Formats: sequence, structure tokens, C-alpha cells
Amino acid sequence: MTGTRPIHNLALIGFMGTGKSSVGRLAAELLHFTYLDTDQVVEFRAHKSITDIFQQDGEPAFREWERLIVEELTQRKKTVICTGGGLPTQPANLESLKTHSLVVCLWASAETIYERVRDHNHRPLLNSGDPMTRIRELLAAREGFYRQADVLVNTERRSVREVAVQVIHQFHMAQAAHR
Ligand code: S3P
Repeated sequence: MTGTRPIHNLALIGFMGTGKSSVGRLAAELLHFTYLDTDQVVEFRAHKSITDIFQQDGEPAFREWERLIVEELTQRKKTVICTGGGLPTQPANLESLKTHSLVVCLWASAETIYERVRDHNHRPLLNSGDPMTRIRELLAAREGFYRQADVLVNTERRSVREVAVQVIHQFHMAQAAHR
């Protein structure tokens, strides 16, 4: 239920390759909101790439960056917040986002995700010999967290614009319910 909480922002969660950044950028443009990407903020603050953080400092250090950044977002308004795929696996992050945002999860099957990410190498968690198996494992382990979003939006065979329009519609409905 979103009816009793303030909905100032739109937060997008979901697995790698579900289109959070593309949908988020377009949604921010259409809503005239600021666009904020937690991965970009982590890289800016840490002065290094996510790959380097994972390699040099380890995944727990990256998760701590994410936690700190989410904590700082509570006073934001009119922002589309795009999150890294693993951010909602720390329940406190999701809880915090829900105090100010409508949390929308973008969804896609493991096969679609694989097709979308296979030519990219900037995601340390998928740089294994068998990315398809890794995607399946991670998706299964995380599904329960993703399902805690306020709204789940399927991105299969739909354009970025179609998904963004649906997300915005959900956002307006949630805001109206709050008023
Ligand atoms: C991660 C997803 C990445 C990034 C990091 C870890 C994850 O973000 O935060 O590589 O744990 O799923 P995207 O979902 O934007 O690729």
C-alpha cells in the first residue's frame, strides 16, 4: 500500500539489464525530474569504477557505499532514482526508499537479461565463465527482494518508451492516492 506515505520520488529497482537506466532517464525527462543513478554516485564518491571497487575493496565495500547513498536520499524530491541490481538485497535500503518514493521493479526473464548484457563487461558479478547460469542463480536468490517493490513492470518485448509511460502512469496514480 502506498496510500499513506509521501511519494516524492520514483525509484527503479531490478536485475542488471532490465533497462533501469534507459527507462529512468526517459521517465525523468518526461516528468521533469532530476535523474540520479546510485552506481554513478558510488563511482564519483569512490573515485573509481565499480569493477575496481569489487576487485580492490570487495563486494561488501560496494554494498556499504550503496547503503550510505540510499540513506542520504531521504530528503530528495522530484528525483528518479535508479539503483544497482543488488541494492534491494539489503532490506533496509528498500525500507528507506519506500519512505519517500514509489518503488517500481523492472522485470525480465533470465534469457532476455542475458541477451541484453552479453556484450557488456562492466558488471563484475557477471564476468564469470558461465554468465547465463550466474544470472539464473542471482535472479532466483533475489526474486523475493524484487517482489517487495510497490509495482512490478514487465519489460519483455516492450520499448523503453512503452515501459517509461507505464511507470509514469503508476507514479501518477500512487501520487493521487496519497493526496
Ligand atoms: C550489481 C548491479 C550493477 C552494479 C554492480 C552490482 C548487482 O548495476 O550495481 O555491478 O549486484 O546486481 P546495474 O543493475 O545497473 O547493472
